[in-house]
Amino acid sequence: MPDPVAVNSMFARIARRYDVANRLLSGGVDVWWRRRLVSAVRGQGPATVLDLATGSGDVAFALSRGLPGPVLITGMDFCQPMLDEAVIKQQSRGGFSNIAFVQGDGMALPLADASFDAVTISFGLRNMADRHRALSEIHRVLRPGGRLYVLEFSQPYNWFRPVYYFYLKHLLPSIASLVTGDRRAYEYLCGSIEQYPGHEVMTEEIQRAGFGRVNVFRLTFGTVALHIAQK
Ligand SMILES: C[S@@+](CC[C@H](N)C(=O)[O-])C[C@H]1O[C@@H](n2cnc3c(N)ncnc32)[C@H](O)[C@@H]1O
Repeated sequence: MPDPVAVNSMFARIARRYDVANRLLSGGVDVWWRRRLVSAVRGQGPATVLDLATGSGDVAFALSRGLPGPVLITGMDFCQPMLDEAVIKQQSRGGFSNIAFVQGDGMALPLADASFDAVTISFGLRNMADRHRALSEIHRVLRPGGRLYVLEFSQPYNWFRPVYYFYLKHLLPSIASLVTGDRRAYEYLCGSIEQYPGHEVMTEEIQRAGFGRVNVFRLTFGTVALHIAQK
């Protein structure tokens, strides 16, 4: 499991180049993955959303743009430099007054029980030192009937594995070190993806935290999965 202090300082180091690196390394597909997440949340129509591990805030902004009606969004992350990037974007873009960016640890959420209709977590759960604790905390802050949306890397279709892992191990760290100057952070990314469970095990982990039925949508040859669960 990742060491939270190391994870926090790694994201602090790459915070300023995080968005550029994301676009480049995913070939822009990451924007589509987040759109897919927002369109699932739109179907629920929540009034309060927690975007946990919000990072530089792209999911929070996409939710603010994509959800109808008045919605209050809390973007929470434990890494202040990532939140600083989110706030810079919020101020420079104008609007988005329905988003509050707040520092907080996903494994000990500083939030009341049953206070959100929906919780989204995009590429964040993989970085949590104790996933069961994080999922239990999410369950606690969701109101009964509320929904969890986990967008995360997953294990790809078998036929795609060799190409995918060749890219992750050999090409991605080199490209990333050119963009961010931090090869180690992207070697961590590759290792954390390789060690992360496939969608079936992830479903079991979500259920073990108290959730009922889990729906899974596998995206881009299974490299990413969207899990949706109800409290
Ligand atoms: C890969 S980024 C994802 C950011 C954003 N959700 C996105 O889709 O681009 C992972 C984020 O998880 C945050 N994170 C990792 N562990 C955390 C924890 N225990 N509590 C809160 N945030 C955490 C990191 O600081 C980082 O901003």
